[in-house]
Amino acid sequence: MKQISKLPNIETNIFTVMGALATKYNALNLSQGFPNFKSDPKLIELVSQAMRDGYNQYAPMAGIFELREQIAKKYDLLYQSTYFPESEITVTAGATQAISCILTAFINKDDEVIIFKPAYDCYEPFVELNGGNTIDIQLEAPLYAINWELVKQKISPKTKMIVINTPHNPSGRVFSKQDMMQLQALTKDTNIIILSDEVYEHIIYDDAQHQSACLFPDLKERSFVVGSFGKTFHNTGWKIGYCCAPKDLMEEFRKVHQFNVFCVNHPIQKGLAEYLKDPEMYLGLPKFYQEKRDLFLNLIKPSRFKYLPSKGTYFQVLDYSEITSEADTEFAKRLVLEFGIASIPLSVFNTNHLDNHVLRFCFAKTDNTLKQAAEILNVI
Ligand SMILES: Cc1ncc(COP(=O)(O)O)c(C=O)c1O
Repeated sequence: MKQISKLPNIETNIFTVMGALATKYNALNLSQGFPNFKSDPKLIELVSQAMRDGYNQYAPMAGIFELREQIAKKYDLLYQSTYFPESEITVTAGATQAISCILTAFINKDDEVIIFKPAYDCYEPFVELNGGNTIDIQLEAPLYAINWELVKQKISPKTKMIVINTPHNPSGRVFSKQDMMQLQALTKDTNIIILSDEVYEHIIYDDAQHQSACLFPDLKERSFVVGSFGKTFHNTGWKIGYCCAPKDLMEEFRKVHQFNVFCVNHPIQKGLAEYLKDPEMYLGLPKFYQEKRDLFLNLIKPSRFKYLPSKGTYFQVLDYSEITSEADTEFAKRLVLEFGIASIPLSVFNTNHLDNHVLRFCFAKTDNTLKQAAEILNVI
């Protein structure tokens, strides 16, 4: 039987490739973005208790109300921004499922979606599956700054959506207030929807304030803000997240969501609803991860890698141009095979595989793993 692929250019993604290599060669794995330390036993206990209490059947389609209420309280506390739990918040199977439903709900044939490269890899396939076209704007290492004049030029009558991601995976860049003001000004009086991927909102450094789309009234009116409890609470395997948006946008979203998964893991929602009552559970994250970033960067000072410290996310980009002129994909493979450490080459997230000779390392790891990583990186 012969079928025509709907995604002819998609290959096995880089996380699977590097993860498999790391396992095969028993390498230290700083490639995929997940913590190698345990999540809070208190949260595990709350989820286990919810299972014992019998919350093991379907949850309501939009998520249990207590959890949506806690999400609303968080937006109120952190950003003084109101989202109504009844109509403006939906719990999803990770941020990925929120992103897929947003794109499916709104992208029609030939619609254009502006994305900034390097970009997290799940946006493009969903645009393509829905018949749309991505319009890339390539950002350049090491600053990954946005040229808003160029964004203005790329906006056309076909522009249906702009996808932003702050703090940004893979670069570790964060959007400034000025960036968000520019985005707001450019989209004012248009029908453009913003998909604001904010899964690393609590992982931001040097006392910077996360610039959520919900802080800017005109932007908020057109935005989906997407979050991930997996990223926030060190449980990436639980695949649970949420999105917030004004009622009219959320209504369309839910039409897709209800047939996509209908609803999400019930006992985890119960556990999270209780856990989120204490804001300290997420307010402590910047300090926790900044200590890890600083430890990692101090440890690799003697190395030949160059870097600008990550401003957010748990990723650090390292420039290896003083070591070799090899392509980043080749060098990343050699690091696994010869040195026993796995990373992610950034070219895979770029337009036409632009290669700036940089690799991404995940520092959501135990101090011991970071020390072992530094011992390797310092002798390369
Ligand atoms: C920028 C970004 N968005 C979305 C996701 C997916 O989040 P989730 O695991 O909650 O689906 C990730 C995961 O790495 C990410 O880095």
